[in-house]
Amino acid sequence: MVDVNSSKSKYTKARVKAAEGMVLLENKNNALPFNQGEKIAVFGINQFDYIAGGGGAAGVNSEYVVNLMEGLMNKQSEGKIKIYEPLITMYKAAYEQDKGKTGRKDQPKITDDMLAGAKSFADTAIITIGRWTEEGYDASFEKNHKNNGQGYYLSCDEQKLINQVTEAGFAKVIVVLNIATVMDTSWFYENPRIDAVLVTWLPGMEGGNAMADILLGDVNPSGKTVDTFAKSYEDYPGAVDFSNDQYQIYKEDIYVGYRYFQTIPAAKSKVNYPFGYGLSYTSFEITDRMISVENDKIIVATKVTNTGSVSGKEIVQVYYSAPQGKLGKPAKVLVGFNKTETIAPGETVDVTISFEINDMASYDDVGKTGYNSAYVLEKGDYRFYIGDSIDGELNAFVYTVEDDILVQQLSQKLTPTELSQRLRADGTYEEFSNQLIPKNKYDSMTNDIVATSTPGDRLKLSDVYTGKINIQDLIAQMSDADLAELSQGQLAIGNGDTGTIGGLLEYGVPSMVTADGPAGLHLNNHAKATWWPCATLLACTWNTKLIEEVGEAIAEECVANDIDLLLAPSLNIHRNPLAGRNFEYFSEDPLITGEMAAGFVNGVQSKGIGATIKHFAANNKEDNRRRVNSILSERAAREIYLKGFDIAIKRSNPMAVMTSYNPINGIKASTNPDLILEILRGEWKYEGGVLSDWDTNAPHVNEAVAGNDVKMPQGSTKELLKALKTGNEGMTRSVLERNVAYTLNMIMKSKKFLREYANPKPVDIKAGTIFRTGYNVMFKSEKVRMEFSGDQESNYGLSLGYCDGKEYTEYRINVLEAGVYSVSSRIASKKGNGTFEIYIDDEKVASVVNKTKTGGWQNWVNTLPQLVNLTEGEHNLKILFTKGSLNLNWLKFDLM
Ligand code: BGC
Repeated sequence: MVDVNSSKSKYTKARVKAAEGMVLLENKNNALPFNQGEKIAVFGINQFDYIAGGGGAAGVNSEYVVNLMEGLMNKQSEGKIKIYEPLITMYKAAYEQDKGKTGRKDQPKITDDMLAGAKSFADTAIITIGRWTEEGYDASFEKNHKNNGQGYYLSCDEQKLINQVTEAGFAKVIVVLNIATVMDTSWFYENPRIDAVLVTWLPGMEGGNAMADILLGDVNPSGKTVDTFAKSYEDYPGAVDFSNDQYQIYKEDIYVGYRYFQTIPAAKSKVNYPFGYGLSYTSFEITDRMISVENDKIIVATKVTNTGSVSGKEIVQVYYSAPQGKLGKPAKVLVGFNKTETIAPGETVDVTISFEINDMASYDDVGKTGYNSAYVLEKGDYRFYIGDSIDGELNAFVYTVEDDILVQQLSQKLTPTELSQRLRADGTYEEFSNQLIPKNKYDSMTNDIVATSTPGDRLKLSDVYTGKINIQDLIAQMSDADLAELSQGQLAIGNGDTGTIGGLLEYGVPSMVTADGPAGLHLNNHAKATWWPCATLLACTWNTKLIEEVGEAIAEECVANDIDLLLAPSLNIHRNPLAGRNFEYFSEDPLITGEMAAGFVNGVQSKGIGATIKHFAANNKEDNRRRVNSILSERAAREIYLKGFDIAIKRSNPMAVMTSYNPINGIKASTNPDLILEILRGEWKYEGGVLSDWDTNAPHVNEAVAGNDVKMPQGSTKELLKALKTGNEGMTRSVLERNVAYTLNMIMKSKKFLREYANPKPVDIKAGTIFRTGYNVMFKSEKVRMEFSGDQESNYGLSLGYCDGKEYTEYRINVLEAGVYSVSSRIASKKGNGTFEIYIDDEKVASVVNKTKTGGWQNWVNTLPQLVNLTEGEHNLKILFTKGSLNLNWLKFDLM
């Protein structure tokens, strides 16, 4: 059991943030919060078989996890509630016995005696239901199934448990849903015997405490849904077709989530809980709704008053309704939101929301308005709904556009070739005639890089950083093989287990260490991190400041673990409730998706750590995720699936973008020049790095040509070099130069580069310093090997392996005490030869000629010292091998 004082631990923030995104869906007769001393009986294996977060890249190795029962028991220890003990014992034993997987353990049978015992003790029953998930896996919509903890619908055993408990006659029945994403809600929406329902999502390591805080009223719920909960799975557009894992036809077009349910006739009646909805223990009134126009913006000003008896937070949401025009429009589109700080009972606060008029433009992908491939603000009346959910009040203010306005002229991209129909606002389908793909439009995207300086000594990345040379000069010096090497990921080092980028010390290019993840750092087994709530919960807070703080906290752990680039946030759209990775993504709505992602990125990057937005784009299905083709119109791509990325880039400039596995209209995202070169680079002017997702099944050559800078976690330099020779698939040296330039620019922004290379921290030298030559290498020639040494005396670690003549390493040193030093070294040499020279600021100060056969490559001896005069301050130290055949572990500086 976790220490009850864990609330006071350093993980308190994870608890506070988790509570803010939990959503109270039902609360009949104020069943919640519990009364002081309320007696409760808790049912459902999920109380122990708790799901802190999803698996895969999003999983976190945290110091501990507070499950739902532990959260409640912590409240019991504070004397606030009483829990029926025999059920705890029974569920705990069942949990420990069941060898099944986390979140999917069987529901133990509840006998009549147990039920009667619980009933005689408690007034209130809690039923816990969980839904596990991870990447690479989609849920099923089978009914009456046997897979506990999985699927859109309840399993038979879960259904049975609910029937037993709701029929037992408890005064109150509360349901707690520890779920990854939207699941069926009709079983409680239509059940008068269920009084309250709390969705905890996957709330991280402190989730049990956060849930208990809400049930007890220690925290007033303020989360609101970011997805629509329909009456049944089949009510979602394209529901049945989702099981096709070869291709997905996005026939619903832009009518995704609430855009579908609010617009399509009769769909509105198929909703149990709408978008933007959630209950509180207090009540709020939104008044004085004022809308004004200022330059290119619309400003909405309101007042929010807490009219209830406890403090709480409210979310003001603004939706616009555009004229149907020629394009057809969703009935409502979220255009702005703002969450208040805590408002005391009786207190009133002002809330302002503003947005660009042009944000209301639609994309015309077939020229219906007379403008083809363009954002157009169609003429007519634009109206606004302001309130505490999507069902807010229609405002009297009308913004009228007299004539169609061309907002942005773009050109045809991501052209569908297999889309034959798409949904219209009136519920009918329009025939979609596919357009021809324009030819040769990528020709202008690569320019030959020409060096502007004469190659002399090897240039370094820090020379680019300090402005001594430009990046082209450096790249022009690189061989084809160097460029190919920088086009692929490198081996993982340190606590990151996803690999590194860069690592070409011949040019002073350090290795940038990457690590997942969206709900906290996913490190190798040796390190622990904070497990934050999943992205969907964070989005349900509607609090961009809160998510920024989560980003900051994750970045602090990156700093502590030497991680430079975080592979998060993930921001694909919740297109269908079965998609296995929805928990990692924010919402069905692109605005909230983009705003949340931007908050996260801003938080991460404020600490000097890079963030990666992923998976770009239309990665909305997990089964067969490397192959399933997303077939969609350009309008749907731009208004829904790319929008969040666009917003995140504008508002937060993430260091990297990760392309997705899936093809988009037949062309894999990582090999898709429309997506990367044309939209991301061309239209959005994005200058960061572009990485592939891990182990894509696309050829490296095609990825490179399409502008995917780095193939992760490894590529094929052989394929790249072969294609360079043949020119196949459009491969040229300038393709690689272009990609490497982006990668080097990214690396120059990394913490690693800035800390160790741009402003190198020198190694201190004073009397007795043992200077390990396998460490702190700033710059080295190509074939220098840093390898593990078997030198027990220096506690192993890295040494310089056998280096041929002309190989060299360079370091930055800081002499703390000036004087004459006697410098010895520790070497191993099987054959008894090898020489090296020591240079200080390019001046030779010592030459070590070895004649000793040490008996093996890992048999280490000390050489005779030589005298070296060192002046105080920073110097460049260079070791130049003039003849191979020795390993070098250290130099020792003894002051004479
Ligand atoms: C996931 C990515 C993740 C990568 C590295 C892939 O399987 O799709 O989101 O960043 O692995 O772990």
